[in-house]
Amino acid sequence: MTDLTGRTALVTGASRGIGRAIAERLAADGALVAVHYGSNETAAKETVAAIEQAGGQAFAVRADLAETAELDALFAGLQEGLAGRPLDILVNNAAYIDYSATIEGATPETFDRLFAVNVRAPLFVIQRALPLMSDGGRIVNVSSGVTWFATPEVVYGMSKGALNVLSRSLAKTQGPRGITVNTVSPGITETDMNGWLTESADAARAVAGITALGRHGQPADIADAVAFFASDDGRWVTGQTLEVNGGLLLGPPA
Ligand SMILES: NC(=O)c1ccc[n+]([C@@H]2O[C@H](COP(=O)([O-])OP(=O)(O)OC[C@H]3O[C@@H](n4cnc5c(N)ncnc54)[C@H](OP(=O)(O)O)[C@@H]3O)[C@@H](O)[C@H]2O)c1
Repeated sequence: MTDLTGRTALVTGASRGIGRAIAERLAADGALVAVHYGSNETAAKETVAAIEQAGGQAFAVRADLAETAELDALFAGLQEGLAGRPLDILVNNAAYIDYSATIEGATPETFDRLFAVNVRAPLFVIQRALPLMSDGGRIVNVSSGVTWFATPEVVYGMSKGALNVLSRSLAKTQGPRGITVNTVSPGITETDMNGWLTESADAARAVAGITALGRHGQPADIADAVAFFASDDGRWVTGQTLEVNGGLLLGPPA
């Protein structure tokens, strides 16, 4: 555990999956967490309830990140929940994959929506969050291993590549304020995004076979790495991408 007592955090896409695990971990460390969600209010309420039951503090904020205009509601809800306190930690986690957006199947519409949610939204969330952030704050962007291994879903991969560039640029420009900006890059992790992983034992076995540590990831595996960057222990690390994947594709299978 790292101590985040008295800190505040916004985690986008915290209703489910990796974002929920990040919200729960930061709250367990002592932070007041804004649990952002897009449409699944029930799941967001469950995340807040789980945090509160564990003795933490959280509140939910909604915005469809495909719509820039909805950032007004997101930041209104955030500022209401923070009640005058600065924002210390921002985790840009929300994203989605469109399995149809291959080189053959992509359309201008699927391209624009993927880039709106996965790239445009993090940029403008950061732009609006920076004036609320304390010096010495933390930004963590959740990217993906598909930035360095090839998958057919080319548009999703391109969107995550753009996010990596965003992190590096901001690490430089926000350095004078002591704000660190890092990227956590999950491997294959069991969430709704990866329904195929639990549909058959063969899928899970295949992933285990290409992973040095012999299994696929769980959301908490990713959340614990995010917590490091969010903590005081991470104070001297900025502009970095951490692959959190159990040794995915480290080399040929044995
Ligand atoms: N799972 C993996 O194997 C894996 C691997 C590499 C990288 N990642 C990355 O890890 C992050 C989390 O992924 P996950 O697997 O946890 O995904 P997930 O289980 O599908 O959850 C996605 C979250 O993002 C929110 N979201 C999606 N579209 C949104 C929109 N248009 N507006 C607002 N919120 C939206 C969802 O909100 P609602 O609940 O309201 O829909 C949900 O909270 C993503 O950045 C993903 O690219 C995941």
